[in-house]
Amino acid sequence: MAERLVLGPLVGGLSHDRVNLWARASGPGMLHAWVGRQADLSDARLAGAALLVASSGFAGRVAVTGLRPETTYHYALTLTDTPPRPTAGAFPSFTTAPQPGEPRDFAFAFGSCFRPGVSNNGQTLRHLDGLRQALDLRFVLLLGDQIYADEWNGNGLGYVALTEEDYRAVYRHVWGHPAWRNLMQRLPVFMILDDHEVDDDWAWTSPERYEGRIPPWHPIIRWFKGFPSEARRLSHRRIQAAIQAYWEHQAMHGPPLLLPPDGIAHDRPLLLPADQGSFAYTFTYGPAAFFVLDTRTQRVYKQRLLNRAQWEALENWLLKVKDRFPLKFIVSSISVLFEMWGDFTRDRWNGYPDERRRLLHLLAAHKAHNTFILTGDLHSAHAVEATLRAPDGELLTVWEFCSSPFEQMLNKPALFAARHVHTPPLVGHRIHFRLAEPNVGVVQVRFENGTPRLTFSIYDDRTPEPRYQVQPGR
Ligand SMILES: [Fe+2]
Repeated sequence: MAERLVLGPLVGGLSHDRVNLWARASGPGMLHAWVGRQADLSDARLAGAALLVASSGFAGRVAVTGLRPETTYHYALTLTDTPPRPTAGAFPSFTTAPQPGEPRDFAFAFGSCFRPGVSNNGQTLRHLDGLRQALDLRFVLLLGDQIYADEWNGNGLGYVALTEEDYRAVYRHVWGHPAWRNLMQRLPVFMILDDHEVDDDWAWTSPERYEGRIPPWHPIIRWFKGFPSEARRLSHRRIQAAIQAYWEHQAMHGPPLLLPPDGIAHDRPLLLPADQGSFAYTFTYGPAAFFVLDTRTQRVYKQRLLNRAQWEALENWLLKVKDRFPLKFIVSSISVLFEMWGDFTRDRWNGYPDERRRLLHLLAAHKAHNTFILTGDLHSAHAVEATLRAPDGELLTVWEFCSSPFEQMLNKPALFAARHVHTPPLVGHRIHFRLAEPNVGVVQVRFENGTPRLTFSIYDDRTPEPRYQVQPGR
């Protein structure tokens, strides 16, 4: 039987001169990438090919290099070496980024948490596709819970994902949703995992990373459901399986990792005890520099959120981009600046107060003006404005924008149980809005007299106008 593409195509690792084109096939083969300037691909050239093999779940990406900045290309991925037949309709396209540092107006979207079927059956993503066209969105950042591997209701399995094949099957089920597939081939993506790519609120039990832990109620509930012991604990083997599927679907098409884990050169990331690697990466888009944190794969329960190597990378990045890029975005799958009464899971930065102080102190001490935190995870959206005091007394404003969920159970308590965050060097904390409905965030950058002005908007799943909007500095 002829193999076919079962997921994708999608465009990852967007930069000013290259992209990665990704897809997953039903079986072994060769993935061919075709790129052209004409919408019907009558001028298509073969940009490269990648072998699809069983050990990486028949997922692969072709690095397309030598592209021109700020240029629109059309593309197609095929499993044969014959060029795609020119069609009446347009092939999907992407537009390369501006040169790093170039002052440009642009807009992008971000959000998290997708469990299709739980409320609006993909409507937020269909709405986002409309916003993509209306607002000329250039990419979307997906901040975690791109699948819910452990939610047996709705993961396509009917049980907690346990093996590599299980985790792959969940991706195939969730990402095969028409709204997801349609959007992702038209809007370049940057992704990072949160907890549900592995299991709910998981962490390692020790820095050696021998085994993981999940909150204590899960083993009990899963025992009552009759799930096997492997589902009631979090073994190294299961985390390894989840991370393998994560690599295949979310990371292999992203920008190069800052500290690649051992094994990724062979598309088999290993979670070795002493390995300092993580899935953190950076990228730029014109005037904006992004650091995408990996807050999960080096987390040790109640001990650390990031390991030493990632802290160093973050600090070095900040020093490098602080003055060169007028806008800095720190992307964290979990919230830094939002807390709720009764949040006993402490699965966010509030559970690691020393490291949260360290992060805020880093921004204050280096006077990292125009730094914005992007986050998800909460199943509610918000904008928080925080004032930090630098060691010399100077005040600095940092914003946190949160968008969550695309589709998941809603966090209504966020509307009344939100509390102010009190931690040095924070001297002010203002919550501008909250929204507990399916939503997506949009950041628009517009230059006025040489100064970039930013607008953060939160859209629900159907209204063409934003539900809330803030303009920092106004
Ligand atoms: Fe979530």
